[in-house]
Amino acid sequence: MPLPSGLPKAELHLHIEGTLEPELAFALAARNGVALPYADTEALREAYSFSDLQSFLDLYYGLMAVLRTAEDFTDLADAYLERAAAQGVRHAEIFFDPQAHTARGVPIGTVIEGLGASLDRAEERYGISTRLILCFLRDESAESALATLDAAKPYLHRITGVGLDSAEVGHPPAKFREVYEEAARLGLRRVAHAGEEGPAAYVREALDVLGVERIDHGLRCMEDPELVDRLARERIPLTVCPFSNVRLRVVDTLADHPLPAMMAAGLLVTVNSDDPAYFGGYAGDNFDGVRDALGLAPEQLRELARNSFRASFLEDDEARRARYLAEVEAYEFGA
Ligand code: ADE
Ligand code: ZN
Repeated sequence: MPLPSGLPKAELHLHIEGTLEPELAFALAARNGVALPYADTEALREAYSFSDLQSFLDLYYGLMAVLRTAEDFTDLADAYLERAAAQGVRHAEIFFDPQAHTARGVPIGTVIEGLGASLDRAEERYGISTRLILCFLRDESAESALATLDAAKPYLHRITGVGLDSAEVGHPPAKFREVYEEAARLGLRRVAHAGEEGPAAYVREALDVLGVERIDHGLRCMEDPELVDRLARERIPLTVCPFSNVRLRVVDTLADHPLPAMMAAGLLVTVNSDDPAYFGGYAGDNFDGVRDALGLAPEQLRELARNSFRASFLEDDEARRARYLAEVEAYEFGA
């Protein structure tokens, strides 16, 4: 059977900083005069062996040192969009981590305008519609999150929603109640990482305290049948990232991934790449991976693709959503 990577899909869980491939990292390091603690791209790739979320985050934040100018962020997003287009991505809702840049002296406007320059021509160049989601780092303070949202106010025309990422355990959603309330007042959509390494209770808290509309990861909801029933009943999307879960040791192997159980439980799950430069593949690669390791049938893959558009923030363009869903129906897997 041909690879399903061409299946039209929306990518809803993608950290743009996690698309920084070693080749681009070294090119930007040279352009900006930044010294990297790796001899070459091969040595850097060899460091991509993670024991948990934190071990990944340490490298992920470290490598961001090469991102300094608006042009760097434009180049980063262009490189992602080109790869995503080749794997059937038609719509991308892209996370970014402003605090990881402002902490290094890069102004938030440089980040947003740099990304924005790429996203402005994404449709024309790559055939991909886009949205931008500003993430707060949950291992930073609530005050820092509030200051970040405040600093983003001149750029809200470019931002669709807010998210919550970084080290989960010990940083429950409720810590960010106030900034999520402010985001809601500003008319922003709300999502949050929850139930990746943290407990099912964090998923519940993200829904009840932060008012999120989607849960990023959410795997550990499976430990709480009552929560699973609620997520299914309320059609709360879960943006699942299979390759990420294996690389960060949330699951042992792809064959052990709970994706089929989540689908069987009636959850609205989507398949995404999280940080594709670090975890071994982009959106289409993740589709291929779950098909091969979990034996998903073509109609199950099609349902995952439908879910991605159903779960996307396209309420301001329902005609587009309908077009994308029609593309999913028309897709032929081949013999
Ligand atoms: N930031 C980038 N990738 C992340 C992940 N998988 N979990 C939490 N924070 C992240
Ligand atoms: Zn993530």
